[in-house]
Amino acid sequence: MQQAKHIPVMLSEAINALAIRDNGIYVDATAGAGGHCSAILDQLGDKGRLLAIDRDPDAVAGVRNRFAEDSRIEVFHSPFSRIAEVVASQGLTGKINGILVDLGVSSMQLDQPGRGFSFMRSGELDMRMDSAHGMTLSQWLSTIDEYLLVRVLREYGEERHARRIAAAILEQHAQRPLETTAELAELVARAMPRHDHKKHPATRTFQALRIALNDELGELQRFLLQVIGLLADGGRLVVLSFHSLEDRIVKRFIQQHAKLTDELPLDLPVINAERLAPLKRVRVSKKPSRDEVASNPRSRSVIMRVAERTSAPIPQQDLDQLFGIEELTHRVEEQKRLGGAKARGGKKSTSKPAAKQSFQGLPNPQSGIQPSKLADC
Ligand SMILES: C[S@@+](CC[C@H](N)C(=O)[O-])C[C@H]1O[C@@H](n2cnc3c(N)ncnc32)[C@H](O)[C@@H]1O
Repeated sequence: MQQAKHIPVMLSEAINALAIRDNGIYVDATAGAGGHCSAILDQLGDKGRLLAIDRDPDAVAGVRNRFAEDSRIEVFHSPFSRIAEVVASQGLTGKINGILVDLGVSSMQLDQPGRGFSFMRSGELDMRMDSAHGMTLSQWLSTIDEYLLVRVLREYGEERHARRIAAAILEQHAQRPLETTAELAELVARAMPRHDHKKHPATRTFQALRIALNDELGELQRFLLQVIGLLADGGRLVVLSFHSLEDRIVKRFIQQHAKLTDELPLDLPVINAERLAPLKRVRVSKKPSRDEVASNPRSRSVIMRVAERTSAPIPQQDLDQLFGIEELTHRVEEQKRLGGAKARGGKKSTSKPAAKQSFQGLPNPQSGIQPSKLADC
């Protein structure tokens, strides 16, 4: 099957926002097909450097291959929540002039049925961005309880029929584990009382499961906590996000770290303002042009946010204080840890809190599937 080419979104806007210096040092934390990497390299001089990161081994192989002749780029197989380790391995902490992150999945991931992201093309129920680590979706569904699944569908997918869908999934999975994306998509469609005809009925469910399985919000939060310490003075952070859950995290992070620079009177000498807050907000057009949306519909929901590192010291940062206690994110990760152990015959999951026990969940099915390797990255 012919694979769709991934078209980078807000390409010129994102590259302009990075304000690339001739011999600067940049990180593309979501290399994908290398579209943004290529545009960064086009503007970098001979002594410039680009560290490219992706958690998907196929993306890493593709980008290594694409830029095999270019010594300015180095490609790392890593989740971006480990960006500080990647940068430190090159001795570049505090020296980075710009970090770009283009969240979500690539067209290659969506188009390959075997990756299990698409309800349009049936494939194995996998859905891991990093196909070398962690449980597949089919394996995870064998360990999750109904209470948590309902919350995932509601909170990560804003799915109004979360209870019906969760019950249908777990009932079916207990009888015979769901193995393909088509089976899951059909089951979701059957469980919904009515459909919005503009969208596939499984759209929200697939989004929610993908976010939870790949810990996408936790990844983003841990990544943001590290970036201030990596950037040089004047270094830029550019984030492209695709749904409100991600954008809310980015917006809050920038607001909190740019608070003082945003609030100070404009006539205050910049040097003083910059001593007070570690970031300053860079005002840019957040949305793609109409032409881009017309030619690449995937770009319609993107939101770009940009911030610049000041010379203010790095603040003491705490995840829960910064983002509010992301209780569901923590709970899902704990469930995966315990659920994986349970699938291997270890400890039981305790993910259903006593106060919520009134929720009538179906018994948790045991498929006896061995997780290939628990999420260790
Ligand atoms: C939208 S694509 C990026 C496309 C890229 N900008 C381009 O122009 O080709 C998103 C990529 O980010 C990767 N990704 C998503 N979450 C990640 C994470 N937490 N750590 C590292 N890579 C991640 C995905 O595997 C995917 O390849």
